[in-house]
Amino acid sequence: MPVTIVVGGQWGDEGKGKIVDALSAGFRAVVRYQGGPNAGHTVVRDDRRLVLHQLPTGILQADVHCFLAPGVVLDPWALRQEIDELHSAGFNSEMLVISPACHVIMPWHRDLDGCQEDRAGGGAIGTTRRGIGPCYIDKTARRGIRFADFVDEERLRHRIEAHRESIDAQLMQAGKPVLDVEALLEECRPLMRELIDYLGDSARPVRNMLEAGEAVLMEGAQGTLLDVDWGTYPFVTSSNPLAGGACTGGGVSPMTVERVIGIFKTYQTRVGNGPFPSEFQDEAFHDEFRQRAGEFGATTGRNRRCGWFDLVAARHSARINGLTDLVFTKLDILSGLPDIQVCVGYRVGGEVLEDFPEDSALLEGPVEAVFRTLPGWEGDLSRASSLEELPKNARAYLDFLSAEMGCRIGWVSTGPGSDQVIRCP
Ligand code: IMP
Repeated sequence: MPVTIVVGGQWGDEGKGKIVDALSAGFRAVVRYQGGPNAGHTVVRDDRRLVLHQLPTGILQADVHCFLAPGVVLDPWALRQEIDELHSAGFNSEMLVISPACHVIMPWHRDLDGCQEDRAGGGAIGTTRRGIGPCYIDKTARRGIRFADFVDEERLRHRIEAHRESIDAQLMQAGKPVLDVEALLEECRPLMRELIDYLGDSARPVRNMLEAGEAVLMEGAQGTLLDVDWGTYPFVTSSNPLAGGACTGGGVSPMTVERVIGIFKTYQTRVGNGPFPSEFQDEAFHDEFRQRAGEFGATTGRNRRCGWFDLVAARHSARINGLTDLVFTKLDILSGLPDIQVCVGYRVGGEVLEDFPEDSALLEGPVEAVFRTLPGWEGDLSRASSLEELPKNARAYLDFLSAEMGCRIGWVSTGPGSDQVIRCP
């Protein structure tokens, strides 16, 4: 009954789209277990670039079942647009199933997310403004709207009316107009009709597949350092991207998990605010690197902050996820640098931390990254089909990271194309 979980090992944007796309052909089902339209999974197919936000990446395979499980928050307006774009690109959405228990991002969630960010000024999280936080707040406050409510007008009306007072109070506080329930229902009606066909249970069919010995892939969004419990709180998303989230949000038993694959860029990036000890300090180098690496957000287009690989955070990620395999992406971006730095400690108040602090607020004050320097390498990596074919120093860099993280290397990505990947035996 093998379940494989794919997680982002860093602050998201590790290149999960390409890897899950390549992996998914070997699975019977792909399940998204958390997050929502804040994600942006980029897949390049025949020179066409597709960005998936809510749909599981397996949707690009004709015969892979795709589920949005209860841990996901779903924006029906954005989903309809994504499905339209999928169809225009020549793919179909017939294999998609949306759990009745997925929570729905309503327009007021988006409004509140934006207002809260605007009002927070310098203390803003730097969210994607897609309504993720406010939707998860309503979920845990037990006043949310779930997908089964959304596609049934009477249930939807009832849920909105039951919590209208609190929604209106929040909207007024944010300086927004209060709800016009009839106008909102009018706006929802066509979506209900279009999306109701996707309504279906996720856990039971997945369990049946596992019992029949078929393989299932759990696809995480964002990354471990954005996990609401184990990331750099409060500069995190509002869900659990880490492997444990696949069991709670995705509904699979921990006993069925065989592999946990952690995806890491060979350097570090982050969008939004919050601590980033290994961030590049030299502005000119930072800008040049960002351009060369194309580090602009797939969902919001924002500049990504870039830095050296953070091994302290990566070891935390390996342990907390129980990683069995590592995938390193964008190795080609580092080619040509005279030397490569790796952050191996955080100097905080005269003490060097080699373990990621559970009180991550310690990283919000002055932190100096302690670096170890490794020699760089030259040359085009895109033709390499095995680790042995990489330049000696590139291989040594990857071996150092994997030894320190205590996990084997599964794949190494050396360019955006689907063929630019080294698959280790
Ligand atoms: P939210 O998930 O929109 O609430 O944003 C919270 C934090 O997570 C912000 O720093 C976002 O930039 C970050 N974030 C959310 N989704 C992603 C993602 O898919 N990749 C990278 N960062 C993300």
